[in-house]
Amino acid sequence: MSRPWGTNHAIRNTQYDIRNTIYKKMLEQFEKIGKDALAGLKKITDLVSLEDFRIKYLARKGQITRMLSRIGEFPSEQKPRAGQLANKIKKDVTEAFEQLKRTLLQSHKQTTELVDVTLPGIPVNIGKTHVITQTINELLDIFGRMGFAVAYGPVVEDEWHNFAALNMGPEHPARDPFDAFYIDDNMLLRSHTSPVQIRVMERKKPPIRVVAPGRVYRPDTVDATHMYMFYQLEALVVDEGISMVDMKTAIEQFIHTFFGPGTKWRFRPSFFPFTEPSGEVDLLLADKSGKESWVEMGGCGMVDPNVFDAVGIDSEKYTGWAFGFGVERLAMRKYGITDIRLFFENDLRFLSQF
Ligand code: DAH
Repeated sequence: MSRPWGTNHAIRNTQYDIRNTIYKKMLEQFEKIGKDALAGLKKITDLVSLEDFRIKYLARKGQITRMLSRIGEFPSEQKPRAGQLANKIKKDVTEAFEQLKRTLLQSHKQTTELVDVTLPGIPVNIGKTHVITQTINELLDIFGRMGFAVAYGPVVEDEWHNFAALNMGPEHPARDPFDAFYIDDNMLLRSHTSPVQIRVMERKKPPIRVVAPGRVYRPDTVDATHMYMFYQLEALVVDEGISMVDMKTAIEQFIHTFFGPGTKWRFRPSFFPFTEPSGEVDLLLADKSGKESWVEMGGCGMVDPNVFDAVGIDSEKYTGWAFGFGVERLAMRKYGITDIRLFFENDLRFLSQF
């Protein structure tokens, strides 16, 4: 059935009006969403509500996101206007949202980081020097005041410095007590600090007056008085006219300074390949229960002429004395410690006592 032109025209006009009304309504809706969103943001005072807001408007299925996807429904001549409006709304709301989020996060941080100044403080563990280091420092201080310089040598030593130059040739039976951890045929962990004597004399002509602290290693079975690693303090004095009196005087001075003026000590004959004559130093000290006993601190003696020959020092012109004391033994006796293992276990209950 054909209609008169005017009728068709009228119908088309009516359709056009309806569509236009729909698009206008949609734009109004857009504006309303934007206004509601901005008004909604104004009421938000916490982060939880802000998240609800984000889900409602800005998330993937939120009203503003959906609004943008509806721009395609507009006829092409209206799309730019609708697009501009929708994007402006999105931008305004997003900016206001981000701004509020920053503010809320900031004040959240401030409230959760509030400091209650009336609470007791958190105790801080103060670190301190290990008792062995303390002891070595004290020993170096005492000998420093007696005119001794400090020398150091390598922990990984060669056979020459650890044995041969100290008058212990390859077949020397005295090597046994100084049994060592070997790295290869020639290199080993030094079994005493006496090789530092050799290193000092190789470098320096007499007069020599040094102490040398350091770690030494021996394959000993571990018990209350033995460790495979421990510390020694070596001393060496070389000059013209040095005698055993000098040695005994220095040792006594040291003992009386370190342990106290009345401390009894004794000097016992002994044997070491690198000294002749040789002695051992014992201290009479009371343990915690007050019981007194002689305890060996280490060896000493007059430097053997063979040692001087090995380093090219004239043994006709010079004499010298040396000692090697166990640092843990000195510390154990001084502080009444009965087990050498305590030094190496790093138990703070032990370490914090010194
Ligand atoms: N080096 C020896 C040891 O480890 C101790 C010693 C003895 C050192 C006599 C000396 C000394 O300097 O003269 O047991």
